Amino acid sequence: MTRKKISINDLYTKKAAGEKVSWLTCYDFPTAQFQEAAGIEMILVGDSMGMCVYGYESTVPVTMDQCIVHTEAVRRGAPTAFVIGDMPFMSYQESDQVAVANAGRFLKEAYVDAIKLEGGVRTVSRIKAIVDAGIVVCGHIGLTPQSSGQLGGHKAQGRTTESAELVIKDALAIQQAGAHLLLLEAIPPELSAFITKKLDIPVYGIGAGIETDGQLLIVSDMIGQFQAFTPKFVRKYCDVGEIITQAFRAYREDVKKETFPADEHCYHILEGEEKRFSEMLDKFN
Ligand code: KIV
Repeated sequence: MTRKKISINDLYTKKAAGEKVSWLTCYDFPTAQFQEAAGIEMILVGDSMGMCVYGYESTVPVTMDQCIVHTEAVRRGAPTAFVIGDMPFMSYQESDQVAVANAGRFLKEAYVDAIKLEGGVRTVSRIKAIVDAGIVVCGHIGLTPQSSGQLGGHKAQGRTTESAELVIKDALAIQQAGAHLLLLEAIPPELSAFITKKLDIPVYGIGAGIETDGQLLIVSDMIGQFQAFTPKFVRKYCDVGEIITQAFRAYREDVKKETFPADEHCYHILEGEEKRFSEMLDKFN
């Protein structure tokens, strides 16, 4: 049975009903089809593609054009999921105008349901401008990978009282600016529980404990595809890295031992053609 397209209203209804939402990142068409089939409600085409797909050391080099190409593919694979385009570094920092133009590209070229951008108090003007353009916005605070240099690395945030107060101020500013959704990354569960109750908008978490309105994980981490490191907050649901490597090894062995291809993998000369075929070959001998 095909699922009805998930809208922003559905996400608010789920928050009100206390129904948790499952959210994963995704970067390609086939994985999007699998997520859609599994009933995942939300998909983020994250700039984590920088590490997970392109092998960069961070998200910083990722461009708008790369994000658009991957987001279009995911949208095609997951027509009913709530798909969010992730604004890459320097696609919104420069000015409100640049931010609106790039957010608009996600809608016009990749048919997303919303865009996400990192930062709290300091992105208020950008959020207002994008919301004023009629676009659904998801804020992202706590550990914000694009500005991890300023945070002293990929470190959990809000673990001291002063830092927790800053996270709460960011959350309030984002809701006040008109954002429709909020993502909390790598903050204590006590803090995310407080923010989730305090805010009217749906609040989701990645590494932020159980008490948010839903959970996000990076697909490449949870299926065991990303090998470089595994953050503390990840649960690995399978190890495709191991499964795929075993398949490649088995294939290599079959090629070496000449057990592949077998007869069933071959296109034989059509029945009745054998005699003419053999005569034709003779011409070349
Ligand atoms: O790009 C991404 O996948 C993200 C997550 C780290 C939240 O922004």
